[in-house]
Amino acid sequence: MSQQGRVRNGALRHRIMSAEAAAELIQPGDNVGMSGFTGAGYPKAVPGALARRMHAAHTAGIPFKVGIWTGASTAPELDGALAAADGVELRLPYQSDPVSRQRINDGLMEYIDIHLSHVAQFVWFGFLGKLDVAVVEVTAILEDGRLVPSTSIGNNKTWLDLADKIILEVNSAQAPELEGMHDVYYGTQLPPHRQPIPLVRASDRIGEPYLRCDAAKVIAVVETHAADRNTKFAEPDDNSRRIAGHILEFLSHEVRKGRLLPELLPLQSGVGNTANAVLAGLEGGPFGQLTSYTEVLQDGMLSLMKSGKLAFASATALSLSDGAMAEFKAHLAHYHPRILLRPQEISNHPELIRRLGVIAMNGMIEADIYGNVNSTHVLGTQIMNGIGGSGDFARNAYLSIFMTASTAKNGMISCIVPMVSHVDHTEHDVQVIVTEQGLADLRGLSPKQRARVMIENCAHPDFRPALHDYFRRALDQSPGKHTPHLLREAFEWHLKAQQGRRMA
Ligand code: COA
Repeated sequence: MSQQGRVRNGALRHRIMSAEAAAELIQPGDNVGMSGFTGAGYPKAVPGALARRMHAAHTAGIPFKVGIWTGASTAPELDGALAAADGVELRLPYQSDPVSRQRINDGLMEYIDIHLSHVAQFVWFGFLGKLDVAVVEVTAILEDGRLVPSTSIGNNKTWLDLADKIILEVNSAQAPELEGMHDVYYGTQLPPHRQPIPLVRASDRIGEPYLRCDAAKVIAVVETHAADRNTKFAEPDDNSRRIAGHILEFLSHEVRKGRLLPELLPLQSGVGNTANAVLAGLEGGPFGQLTSYTEVLQDGMLSLMKSGKLAFASATALSLSDGAMAEFKAHLAHYHPRILLRPQEISNHPELIRRLGVIAMNGMIEADIYGNVNSTHVLGTQIMNGIGGSGDFARNAYLSIFMTASTAKNGMISCIVPMVSHVDHTEHDVQVIVTEQGLADLRGLSPKQRARVMIENCAHPDFRPALHDYFRRALDQSPGKHTPHLLREAFEWHLKAQQGRRMA
């Protein structure tokens, strides 16, 4: 398809301009809603041009910052460039860029870490203020002005509906065959007029393949030709393989108990190497005809689909490394009917996750002996990435599984602790904890029963004596015996780690 063929609406063809000219249309203080979910479907040119404009303004002594709202994390060309230009007043939601992370932790950039399913509705409710500009990557613009989405949908529907002004990036590097793989649901209403969302299987199509767009709001169209940037996963290491093995054994046990069918229930898998290792483990496992209802379709899922183990995947982003993207493009006829990309308010919707009975598997920083989970903060105060969709899924899943290696920083820090240094998922939302040491099935256990299983099954042997000792003394000395704690000592555990002293 020619570049001309990608902008098929005559009026919008007249708004084609350079990224620099488009960036001139964004003003200091604007809230800008950008496309992008992981390294998929983010605008490739305008953020860089905007960052250069900010640099120039700052050099001239003129302040220039904007608010940046996205689907989730993006790529260095967006998050990294704008953070390095000191151009971001406030960022939301999930991010994972090292430059952004540093600025947030240095107190130089405001960050709001909210559940991914909340973002669109918070904007509709007016909780986050006015959205001034949307900058959205698309695959093509149809004659009638509707948009063929790109490799992620994220919050694009909301950005396009609510922004005063729209800048479109039409990326000819995105496969034209993406057309038809999207399902954009326009039926969400605001309370008290909300209706049930008519999705009962992961594969149900409930919306439209295109994004609607009011051409009168489009102030610029920028043509690009640039690939997405998703990192290739490392080969699973020993710990990841062991974690995957424990999860597979557990799922087989649930099938034997009659609590799961051999095709399981729709899988949600978090981002990262461990999650990818679990997917690789499923490839050699006994389950077939699997489905997935998740946020991110990553390499491991594509290869499960290639082998025929995964029958269908619903996601909001196609986050494939270059190699996996080449495989996807080479066998589009196979993948096209088996994948649907949806807005993240649908991929992460609590009603749908609960109805489908999703099996949620997410990474974490640490868990405490009672099953509270910290997904976001290293040693209590430094943000790593953000909660992402883990809360949407954990709270509403059929089974909520969290995983990590049992230690961090070359064995210096135990990821199983007396009390988490920050809490993202409470004991009420967490059912299974897995480390390479083993799996703690916390369902139906009281706090004290949980503590014993957590220490025995999940903690590293080097830290088990200290944790047992803590729990014994807490049982003895804690004023309350339901969730026994020695509060000062629980926090000293983290202080020691902050000072680089071993906790045990
Ligand atoms: N104490 C101190 N530091 C710790 C730690 C602990 N208990 N556990 C991990 N870390 C450090 C690691 O050393 C590493 O530091 P480095 O970057 O300086 O090397 C960093 O935290 C990341 O740890 P790692 O083991 O590489 O992370 P991961 O790739 O397994 O990801 C999360 C783990 C929690 C960061 C990741 O899963 C995440 O961002 N989760 C939240 C969002 C989410 O769940 N999204 C999925 C829903 S769709």
